[in-house]
Formats: sequence, C-alpha cells, structure tokens
Amino acid sequence: MSQPNGGTFDLVILGAGSGGYAAALRAAELNLSVALIDEAEWGGTCLHRGCVPTKALLHAAEIADQTRESEQFGIKADLVGIDMAGVNAYKEGVVSRLYKGLQGLLKQDKITQIAGHGKLVAKDTVEVDGQRITGRNIILATGSYSRTIPGLEIDGTRVITSEHALKLDRVPSSAIVLGGGVIGVEFASVWKSFGADVTIIEALPRLVALEDEDISKQVERAFRKRKINFKVGKPFEKVEHTENGVRATIAGGETVEAEVLLVAVGRGARTSDLGYEEQGITLDRGFVITNERLHTGVGNIYAVGDIVPGLQLAHRGFAQGIFIAEEIAGLHPAVIDETGIPRVTYCDPEVASMGLTEAKAKQQYGADKVTTYNYNLGGNGKSQILKTQGFVKLVRLNDGPVLGVHMVGARMSEQVGEAQLIYNWEAFPEEVAQLVHAHPTQNEALGEAFLALSGKPLHAHS
Ligand code: NAI
Repeated sequence: MSQPNGGTFDLVILGAGSGGYAAALRAAELNLSVALIDEAEWGGTCLHRGCVPTKALLHAAEIADQTRESEQFGIKADLVGIDMAGVNAYKEGVVSRLYKGLQGLLKQDKITQIAGHGKLVAKDTVEVDGQRITGRNIILATGSYSRTIPGLEIDGTRVITSEHALKLDRVPSSAIVLGGGVIGVEFASVWKSFGADVTIIEALPRLVALEDEDISKQVERAFRKRKINFKVGKPFEKVEHTENGVRATIAGGETVEAEVLLVAVGRGARTSDLGYEEQGITLDRGFVITNERLHTGVGNIYAVGDIVPGLQLAHRGFAQGIFIAEEIAGLHPAVIDETGIPRVTYCDPEVASMGLTEAKAKQQYGADKVTTYNYNLGGNGKSQILKTQGFVKLVRLNDGPVLGVHMVGARMSEQVGEAQLIYNWEAFPEEVAQLVHAHPTQNEALGEAFLALSGKPLHAHS
C-alpha cells in the first residue's frame, strides 16, 4: 500500500539534537530545503538531558562550595541548605531560554519541522507516522542513550541514570556512582558539593581514564581532599535493594551502601529498530560506521554525532553537522581532525584537554621524540587568589609543534579555547611563548607553561 507523500527535500535529517540541528541550520544558510524530524524536543540530549542542565547543576554546586568556604576569604556566610526545587527551577530556566532561542533559529522557510517517530524505509526516504519524507540526501542523527551493564536493571528510583539524576527533587543522603568517567565524576562532584556522601566505583585503574595519567592523579588527589570516596581498578559485580536504598558489591566482595546508585558506564548509540541495517548501513556495536567524510557508504546517507564512533560531545556534533551540510552543498569542507576537538570535564577541579596525552604521544612518535612540562598553578597569582590547585601540562614534539595541552584546576574549562588554537594551528612552544598573557588570570598559567617549556621560565617553581 502506498503511503501519503510528506514531500521531497534536498536534505532529510532524522534527529534534531546538536548534530542534526546544526546540519539543518547550515544547510538552510546554503539554500538547501531541509526536513528536520524528531519525536522529542528540538535540541536533543545536550540541551534537555545533558550538557546544559548538568552544567547548571555544577554551577549551583560551585556556589554551595563558595558559600561553605567563604570564611577563608574573610566573608561571613552560612550555607543554610540546598533547596533542590530552587536549583531545579534555575536549571530549567536556563534550558527553557536556550530552547526558545533554538526554536526561533529553526523557524525559517527553508526548514520544515516534522514531529514524530521516523524510520528509514528506503535509501532516500524516512517514514514518519505513515508519511513518506523523501530526501536527495539523508542524515542519520539519532543520538545516544544511557547504557547499563548486563544484569543491572535501571529502576529509575534507586538505580538511576543521569536523566533520572537530573530530575531528582532532593539531594540523596548518599550515592554510589558506577563509572568514574565524565558523567560519573561530574555527578559525584555535584552531589558532594550539595552535601551527599559519595562513592565512585570504577573498573579501570584510575578516574577519568581517557585523560593524561597526571590529570587523573590530580583529580584523585582533589577528590580525596573533598572526601569523595572512590574505588578504582575493581569492576562492579552486583546491586541489591536494602531497606532504604541499595548495596553494591565490587570484585573481591567489598560492599558499599547508599540511597541511590547512578549508572554512568557510557552511552550507547540509538540505532536499533530505525531501519538502518535493513537499508545496508554497517553498524558496529550499534554505532554507524562512516568514512572520514561521514558518509555511510549507502546512497546519499550520512551520519552525525553520538551514533558515529568517537567522542560523544555536542561540539563534535555541531562541527560534523556543519561539515555534512557543506559537503552536500559541494563546498568540499576539510575533514574534521578528531584529535583537535577540545575536551572538558566540569567537575571540581575542572579538567580541560587538547590533543594527545603523554602516553599517546610517546606511542605515536617514540619516547625520545617527545618532551613534556608541568606548570604548577602554585606559581600563578590568580590561582592563589582563587585558592585552587592543579597544573597545565604540555606535550611537544622535540623541535616540533605542541601535541597536547592538559589542564586541571579552577576555571580551566575557559582556557581550552587558546589550547585548541595552539594545537590545531600546530604552533611551536617558542611561538606561543612570545604571546603576552594577561596578569593575573588563570589563562596566564598557559603562557607561563610555554615560557618554561621554551627554556625561559618566569614564575615556575620546579
Ligand atoms: P565514559 O565512557 O566517560 O565513562 C564510563 C566509565 O565507566 C569508564 O571509565 C568505564 O571504565 C566505567 N565502567 C564501565 N563498566 C564498568 C563496570 N562494570 N564497573 C565499573 N566501572 C565501569 O562514559 P560516561 O561518563 O557515561 O559518559 C558518556 C559520554 O557522554 C562520554 O562519551 C562523554 O564524553 C559524554 N559526556 C561529556 C561531558 C563533557 O564533555 N563534559 C559530560 C557528560 C558526558
């Protein structure tokens, strides 16, 4: 039976998260007609269930800590309590203002917004609630979901994912965080600041295991000081309900009890039952395999964002979305260098990194070809003012460019912009050392690190 025709477009995008909507906006700028399909709110995980609301929580957490620690700065204040209803109202206010803004951006002649569940039914067609939407090009942009591990059932109240954690109307008295990756350390940080007793369980030997080893050590040192408990190097085995919460058992038989257990063991790709495999798209553990130009190898079908193996970051999705729109418009954009994508973890202390870790650089270039330098924030004026600890670590190719920049400490997230220019423009440390960095700023630590690496340290204590 033939289905009603929902129209033909230059580009049909299935999923309106960071990757999908960025592609839609860029394609419309390039005069392409676009159908943008989503079954939930425009903006996807990042805006509604990810980056934006969690960073609002982290900011509220910072205010709680500052209030608690105000006396160190000669300010008398008491932290009377955390009003979760107030915190949630603030968080939702941020999301709703950005959501309104996005709706405004998407409301334009070139973009047809289609609300409903879409399925790929032909190499050029997505079906939404019985309507066939045809595209000369298709972008799959269906995003990701919180994964769990076999046998660990999410019940939404005691065993929860980050989506549930974002909606909690109270601060749990205690929490187990399963997974010491990005989501794990961010929630552990928030809950500790809000007064919960937190224990992280991580199978790998260190927290934030994708970062440079020195960064993990510093985060662990800081978490110890903050009395955030963590057990690394031991996989989780099982969870049981207790009278008031949960009891988790880790390898070796040790148990931890808490009110809730947050499962933060990674995010899977949302690609099942969407018709992808039926149309010949190659999936690997659920992820869509593409070439470096994000083409799936089938028809004119591209994939973008969290469903493409690699960093699951909103700004990667934006960049990929823009890339595909330009590719379709025939602009031949440059391939995105995945190593050149900045990474930020917004726990306290903040972690920001670019390029290769020391271990990866040595593996790639040989240990004798790589030099590193750690600039301790102890020498930085602004860090002293903020009472923060940490460092800026540089990795360079000998007689060559900067290969990696790794930073930990207060406000380091905002330093990643300069770090990414340095890395992506393949700057030599000596070139960066010539640039004047404002004093006193956290940014200055980056400048000082480059001065020292170029053999002319200023405020560097070895
Ligand atoms: P992740 O991959 O960063 O961390 C998951 C952790 O769970 C890993 O360290 C893993 O070793 C551990 N794990 C897995 N199975 C385990 C077991 N059985 N027992 C103990 N530990 C176990 O994934 P996460 O934190 O869930 O984040 C998902 C994605 O979302 C990431 O790719 C991340 O990039 C993205 N994200 C980015 C943020 C940012 O940029 N600030 C914030 C939050 C998420």
